[in-house]
Amino acid sequence: MNLTLKIWRQKGSNVKGKLVAYNVADISEHMSFLEMMDVLNEQLVNSGEEPVAFDHDCREGICGSCSMYINGRAHGPDGGITTCQLHMRTFKDGDTIIVEPWRAKAFPVVKDLVVDRSAFDRIQQAGGYISVNTSGNTQDANAIPIPKLNADLAMDAATCIGCGACVAACKNASASLFVAAKVSQYALLPQGQVEANDRVINMVDQMDAEGFGSCTNTGACSAECPKDISLENIARMNREYMRAKAVTK
Ligand code: SF4
Ligand code: FES
Repeated sequence: MNLTLKIWRQKGSNVKGKLVAYNVADISEHMSFLEMMDVLNEQLVNSGEEPVAFDHDCREGICGSCSMYINGRAHGPDGGITTCQLHMRTFKDGDTIIVEPWRAKAFPVVKDLVVDRSAFDRIQQAGGYISVNTSGNTQDANAIPIPKLNADLAMDAATCIGCGACVAACKNASASLFVAAKVSQYALLPQGQVEANDRVINMVDQMDAEGFGSCTNTGACSAECPKDISLENIARMNREYMRAKAVTK
């Protein structure tokens, strides 16, 4: 395939950026999107130009770092996958593909397609630890029975990889789906109850302090989430938050 790429180039957070067009030739349909970006970067390096900066690590849908807005959609046109799992067979010979970084005030551009997602780390840190005794007399995991449905829902919430696609897809740049997933994975388990009130209040307050927008239940977050995190988690987070506020007044 021969393709035209229009890629957001920006030298730093305080510098103006712009879309720059590049041509890449002989792209195999079996390549991943990131492998295609590697081909472009090799081409740029060989011609003495600066390669396009983009985040990636695992390249198998686990780490959540490969944040790219492709043709107007977070992680590209296919649903339920990350950019590193997107294959070039999704595109046609002669296509023009527009590649941009996540756009959100709380995710400032570091360079080109790389954004600073450390706001997510600070939200997780605000959540703190859970009280599990790991000092040598740890309780057997099976000693506290957990209803199957709760275990499944907690596990579903725990599949959030912190990629930020939910924020990028949201017209308000809300981080509600991410925070809701992180709150839900503990809210549903008995081990998570001891610090439940402090956790949800601190995480939601940190989310607001980081400059993310409010949730207006549009649902773009869940539609674009590579892990199909359900909107029900946002409802659970709101319930947890209201309950926690009522009892800690
Ligand atoms: S909720 Fe989904 S889109 Fe948002 S950070 Fe988690 S995995 Fe990514
Ligand atoms: S590079 Fe890790 S999820 Fe894509």
